[in-house]
Amino acid sequence: MEQTLALPHGTLAWDDVGPRQSGLVVVLVHGFPHDRGLWSAQVAAHASVFPESRLLLPDLPGFGRSTPLTTPSMDGYADAIAAMLDAAGVTTAVIGGLSMGGYVALAFWRRHAHRVRALMLMDTRAPGDSDEARAKRRDMIATVTRDGAGAIVPGLLSQQLGPTTRSSNPALMAQVEVLLRRAPAIGVIGAATAMMDRVDSTPTLETITVPTLVLVGEEDTLTPVTDAVVLSSAIRGSRLVTVAAAGHLSPLEQPKVVNAAIAEFLDVSGLF
Ligand code: MLT
Repeated sequence: MEQTLALPHGTLAWDDVGPRQSGLVVVLVHGFPHDRGLWSAQVAAHASVFPESRLLLPDLPGFGRSTPLTTPSMDGYADAIAAMLDAAGVTTAVIGGLSMGGYVALAFWRRHAHRVRALMLMDTRAPGDSDEARAKRRDMIATVTRDGAGAIVPGLLSQQLGPTTRSSNPALMAQVEVLLRRAPAIGVIGAATAMMDRVDSTPTLETITVPTLVLVGEEDTLTPVTDAVVLSSAIRGSRLVTVAAAGHLSPLEQPKVVNAAIAEFLDVSGLF
C-alpha cells in the first residue's frame, strides 16, 4: 500500500489504496501539521463508499515519511504531488485537500490545471495570511524552535476539533493527539513558514473550470463557514456542503457524512 519516490530533495511517501486500473483517482492532501493518517476514516470506508476509485494519500514533504523540502512552499508541495502522480502512472485526478491541503490543491490548480478532474476544498480558505496571522505563525515557529513541536499540540487539539467532538468523543481526541504529536518540528516550521508566505488564492477561484466541492464543519472556527461561503460563491457551479457537529477536521469528526458528501459529489459530477 505504501509507495515511495526518490526526489532530488529526498523521499516522498504516500498510500495507494484501491484498484490500480481504476479510471478515477482521488488525491487527498492532509492539513497542518498532520500526515496521511488524517484520512484514516476515508481509507476505512473505501471498500464500501468509494470502491471504484483509487485513493492516493501523500505525506506532504516534512511530514510522515516524506523528507522536508529545502525551501518549503505551497508550490513545492503541489509539484511533489505532480511527481507522485507521474510515479503512480496517473495523468489526471480529483485533487482534494483539507485546510493547508486546500491551499496546496489551489496551488496545484494554478500549476497543473490540465491534470485536475475536480477539486474538493475542505475546511479551507482562499486568502493569504493577514499581518495578525503572520505574527501568530512567527510565535508558533519560535515556540516550536525553543520547546519542540509537542508544545503546540494542546492548543491545536482544542482549536482543530469542534465542541461536539471535544465533549463526546474522547477516542477521537486521543487519535488526533497521536497524529499531532508525531509531526516533526522541521516539518511544522517549514509548513508554517510556507503558509505564512503563501499567495492570496482569491484571484485563482474565478479561473476554476472543473467541478468543485466546498465542504466545511459547522463548528470550524479556524476556517469557518463564512470562508467556505466565500470560496463557493467565487467558484462557478461549485457545491457547498456544511457538516453538522464537526469542527476543522470534519473528515475525521463526521466521517459518514463527509464520505457520503464526497461520493455524491463524485457521482453527480459524472466521475464514477
Ligand atoms: C490546517 O489545518 O492546515 C491549518 O489550520 C491551516 C492554517 O493554519 O492556515
